[in-house]
Amino acid sequence: MYMRRALAIAVACSTALLLQTVTTFPQNNPAAPTFYRDVLPILQKHCQNCHRPDEMAFPLITFDQAASHARAIQESVAARKMPPWLADRNFGHFSNDPSLSPGEIKILSAWAVGGAPPGDPHEAPPALRWTKGWNISAPDVVVEMPKAVALAPEGDIDYTYEIIPTHFREDHWVQMAELRPSSREHVHHAVVYIRPPDSKWLRNAPVGAPFTTAGLTDEQGRRDTHWTDSDILIVYAPGSSPEMWASGMAKFIPAGSDLVIQMHYMAMGHAATDRTSVGIVFAMKPPRQRVLTLQLTNDHFVIPPRDSDYRVEARGSLPNDATLLQFFPHMHWRGKKFEYNLIHSDGRIEPLLKVHWDFEWQLSYELADPLSLKAGTVLQAVAWYDNSSNNPHNPDPNQEVRWGEQTYEEMMVGFFDVAVAADLDKWKYFMRGTDGSAAAR
Ligand code: HEC
Repeated sequence: MYMRRALAIAVACSTALLLQTVTTFPQNNPAAPTFYRDVLPILQKHCQNCHRPDEMAFPLITFDQAASHARAIQESVAARKMPPWLADRNFGHFSNDPSLSPGEIKILSAWAVGGAPPGDPHEAPPALRWTKGWNISAPDVVVEMPKAVALAPEGDIDYTYEIIPTHFREDHWVQMAELRPSSREHVHHAVVYIRPPDSKWLRNAPVGAPFTTAGLTDEQGRRDTHWTDSDILIVYAPGSSPEMWASGMAKFIPAGSDLVIQMHYMAMGHAATDRTSVGIVFAMKPPRQRVLTLQLTNDHFVIPPRDSDYRVEARGSLPNDATLLQFFPHMHWRGKKFEYNLIHSDGRIEPLLKVHWDFEWQLSYELADPLSLKAGTVLQAVAWYDNSSNNPHNPDPNQEVRWGEQTYEEMMVGFFDVAVAADLDKWKYFMRGTDGSAAAR
């Protein structure tokens, strides 16, 4: 996350100075906040990663753009709807928490109430420069779907896979990675797997062309679409941030690997095509630690009709020492809450993250202080579902709901990233240090 942190530091000084002056703003008070001096630095720091051209939300770059939304800005930040962040502030500290400070909220409100004045353009901070199209720095490699996926206008779209050869002649350590769909509004979520050359996973599936489970002729291939132990490069969902691992930590792509992209598309009422690409920035030097994405999953649940608080849990113990870096919970429309906990050997439960679920925002939560965990540490994920009519997202409270790919079915996946020794791959990590027996998951 160092890129974003650098931006934060660049603007922190100007807002910090302002905090003392922000109390009330009589009309024509020279201290009243202006766009260029006071508002723009906040928009740069907290909003423009999403609110800019070619991104997911309308631009908030120029004075006119911000002024025309001044009221809406005031309301959305006062209600803490923007920037989106779903973690309960009483548990854990997260380095990618984009929340505004109370002082920043006051500045934006006072600016809107004061008639959204522009102020002096000379007081503006330098405009942020974005690498065209990317939130990571300029990618060393862009891996793009060789063939676009055709999307039907109506109906369920089965999970769609595309295998993309990287043609890497040597092993590569990845410092940053970002996924960009060409048709963003159709993408519910995406997972990019790393398939090393010796992996048998989906071996008979087509390469360089989209396919679904039903389109595979061999039984093994169809089974493979539902399970893999391949490592994950990135998970993407609307609002999720690109991956930027701390220095000394990186993901590993062996020479000759393929990327296997699993796309969950949604029909949007009009036919479209999508050609997703993955931007990759290589590490400058080999890292000390390798980052692995693991998951706590429970796919054996039945949520009763009209139950407003149905609990599902998954737990697992770490086969070897690891440093816990970040969380990425995943549920569908009936999701309500999601927690990650550490269960101590005396039974004490230590909450690490509590998320008030909002299907619109599938976010990752990066620990500000990564946690060193010993082999045997038990991690627990707990999800709650609201299948009642009080849940505005619930398509049908009278259904019994089970695991399934579509959003009217449910999922319970607690992805989490750990850093391990650089020479451990996922398979070796799951060999228990002492007796070599494989872990359950
Ligand atoms: C993670 C991405 C993201 C960030 C960060 C973000 N927004 Fe948004 N914002 C969105 C999206 C997406 C929408 C919906 C846009 C649409 O409907 O066109 C939205 C909608 C809005 C709206 C419309 C009002 C509403 O409630 O629907 C306002 C105002 C707004 N954002 C202001 C801000 C401000 C101010 C910040 C920074 C303090 C911010 N946003 C940060 C993604 C983001």
